Amino acid sequence: MWSYKKNLEFDLPVTPRWAYLRRRDLMKGTALGALAYWSGWAFAQEKLKFKSNADFQKVDPPYKVTDKKLVLSYNNFYEFSLEKDEVVKKVAGWKIDSWKLEVGGLVKKPRTLNLQDLTTAFELEERIYRFRCVEAWSMVVPWIGFSLSKLIESVEPKPEAKFVKFTTLADPAKMPGVKELSNYPWPYTEGLTIEEAKNPLTLMVVGAYGEPLAKQNGAPIRLIVPWKYGFKSAKSLVKIEFVKEQPKSLWQDLAPSEYGFYANVNPKVDHPRWSQASEKVIDGSFFPKRIPTLMYNGYEKYVTGLYAGLDLKKKY
Ligand code: MTE
Repeated sequence: MWSYKKNLEFDLPVTPRWAYLRRRDLMKGTALGALAYWSGWAFAQEKLKFKSNADFQKVDPPYKVTDKKLVLSYNNFYEFSLEKDEVVKKVAGWKIDSWKLEVGGLVKKPRTLNLQDLTTAFELEERIYRFRCVEAWSMVVPWIGFSLSKLIESVEPKPEAKFVKFTTLADPAKMPGVKELSNYPWPYTEGLTIEEAKNPLTLMVVGAYGEPLAKQNGAPIRLIVPWKYGFKSAKSLVKIEFVKEQPKSLWQDLAPSEYGFYANVNPKVDHPRWSQASEKVIDGSFFPKRIPTLMYNGYEKYVTGLYAGLDLKKKY
């Protein structure tokens, strides 16, 4: 079984953890809770060592950990469906048990990680990150994963490696969207500069809400780059390559006038078809509230050094 530690260093102010801890605590103290515990439901929850932290009490603007149900049912995963609420149904029969993640290209020590390696090769931590989609909605998710920088260190990139290319699975037999969207340049690919990839915020995610990552969220392993629009956070990775030239992503290929390479969250640069100044908070309500979008999604202090000399008033 896998274990992980909590890393508070990267947590930004969100509402107290009780939002999703309360159930666990309630279970501990009641007869019903004991029953649930012994029936196994609470087993995964109980293994997690969460601490509440005073930093989370102060919220401005008011971010809250998104209800797990919403994160599991409101998904962008075009390999399965264009409809957010259809993805969860369509992943049901998809098997991920013989997964391999190849890591290679301009590196001295290429390696292949199997399903078990993904959760055991590196120390796992939980981090609560804001997640901002280019479609102007946002969530706050307690991801579990490891820093991509650790994996990068282990493969020893050659000096010529300037970019990292991420390739995800595209299996037309098991992923109906791949067949239906036949004009899309599958597979879904994404890219980062090597400095962005090594940034301590960049996370390889294998879980969320204390549990292994759900298939609709990109199991068994996905990227999470919290200061960039969500489409950079590619799901269900099968290959990571170190390359010399800036790789072209699926979105750059499909709609170059709308999606750039960097795709940093920037409230001052609108999407050609809508404003990026604010975002809809996914909270399950009929009229979700809108809040202002923050530069780099609130992660400015971790990443500004990466973009010296880049004109951020231009298209992202
Ligand atoms: N990765 C793959 N392989 N396919 C996709 O369609 N959608 C992206 C990103 N990664 C996508 C993907 C977009 S647009 C967003 S907003 C997030 O995944 C959504 O992640 P979630 O469903 O876990 O919230």
